[in-house]
Amino acid sequence: MSVTYKFPEGFWWGSATSATQIEGAANEGGKGKNIWDFWYSQEPNRFFNEVGPESTSNFYYQYKEDIQLMKEIGHNSFRMSISWSRLIPGGRGKVNEEAVDFYNRVIDELIANDIEPFVNLYHFDMPLELQNEGGWESREVVDAYVVYAEECFRLFGDRVKKWFTFNEPIVPVEGGYLYDFHYPNVVDGRRAVQVAYHTIVAHAKAVHAFRTINIQDGKIGIILNLTPSYPRSQHPADLKAANFADLFFNRSFLDPAVLGEYPQELIEILREHSQLPVTEPGDKDILKAGKVDILGVNYYQPRRVKAKDHLPNPYSPFMPDWFFDNYEMPGRKMNKYRGWEIYEKGIYDIMMNLKENYGNIESFISENGMGVENEERFIRDGEIQDDYRIDFIREHLKWLHKAIEEGCNAKGYHLWTFMDNWSWMNAYKNRYGFISVDVETKKRAFKKSAYWIKEVSQNNGF
Ligand code: BG6
Repeated sequence: MSVTYKFPEGFWWGSATSATQIEGAANEGGKGKNIWDFWYSQEPNRFFNEVGPESTSNFYYQYKEDIQLMKEIGHNSFRMSISWSRLIPGGRGKVNEEAVDFYNRVIDELIANDIEPFVNLYHFDMPLELQNEGGWESREVVDAYVVYAEECFRLFGDRVKKWFTFNEPIVPVEGGYLYDFHYPNVVDGRRAVQVAYHTIVAHAKAVHAFRTINIQDGKIGIILNLTPSYPRSQHPADLKAANFADLFFNRSFLDPAVLGEYPQELIEILREHSQLPVTEPGDKDILKAGKVDILGVNYYQPRRVKAKDHLPNPYSPFMPDWFFDNYEMPGRKMNKYRGWEIYEKGIYDIMMNLKENYGNIESFISENGMGVENEERFIRDGEIQDDYRIDFIREHLKWLHKAIEEGCNAKGYHLWTFMDNWSWMNAYKNRYGFISVDVETKKRAFKKSAYWIKEVSQNNGF
């Protein structure tokens, strides 16, 4: 392959996943229950084809084989998460030795295969007992999270050097407290704001704990899903709408995580609508000290917005959508299976924004990918010909490459995801992997994109 797009030396090629989505063994190895186990037991009908989290992709038992496959396709890094309810059943108290042993084996196996483990502490999976205490609405749960984080740094920090406090912390806010796609299915703006605020306090306290423990060569970051907000037009009303969307969905986490404080404009909007969270004296300093070393960027889709067509119903629950309408741009390119627009240049716009407004913080693409339904129809000679995925990755990489050439500080690209995994309410509807997983037999098989990425990572470009 001749290389036109060469990436900087040491570029991180790999993928990301999360504990609940691949491990399985949800009721084994001493694991406690999390909100997904519970919600599924109550409302299996909410999950595609009623497939729940009990066995998912069976990584708990097949991790060795999976790590071999990662190595075969050229991974030099891999992001996983630790399941809080596996490590500390109930969320507080004694560590589960079987879980320590499992994560030790996974981490050691990755390192033995020259794959650097990137470890995330929280990927949507609150231990059930702590949710029953109020979840992120409770300040005591924040404290429990910090103890859990310290435990992880202490147990695995001798080998794991890249740590992340949260994956997409805004998603549980949206899903669990605004738009009804995560447990506890609350719809309440004020509670949503409290959850978001406590998440950032938990993040900042974990960063502080990390620095106190002082892991040699360690870096701590957060993974944010950034959705650039594009206005329908340059009309001031559309620009204002786009700014609101940006404040609610991007800067609500990006600013405190990277700059150590909330945007004043966001505070003012929430104040005006009586939605400010309960805070404690000293919180501002905690946030200031919680600035990250490294930022993971998940990018799937842009957000297109326009000024509202109608005034919101004043009796409806407070929503970010009171300030803008989503805009369906004619001619937009869609991934129709997931209902997400594909706009490759978004990755460049995010990176340039980080360069210009966020001190060019060290970053990487921590998730990007394309979920497609019924990939079996693309099987030829026994292999899924996922050319659409190759195109998707290649076109995003070209824009990332351009951003790097223009001086942005991006260090790697991780696909969502390594092998097909359980996508929450969508279960196994849309498949994202380089490697397919047969949901019944758990058999793994390379897709065409697996061979392609192998070559790309070996050549450090394409
Ligand atoms: C990200 C999450 O939002 O996107 C993953 O970090 C998720 O957990 C992925 O699986 C793909 O989205 P979905 O909803 O299709 O699973």
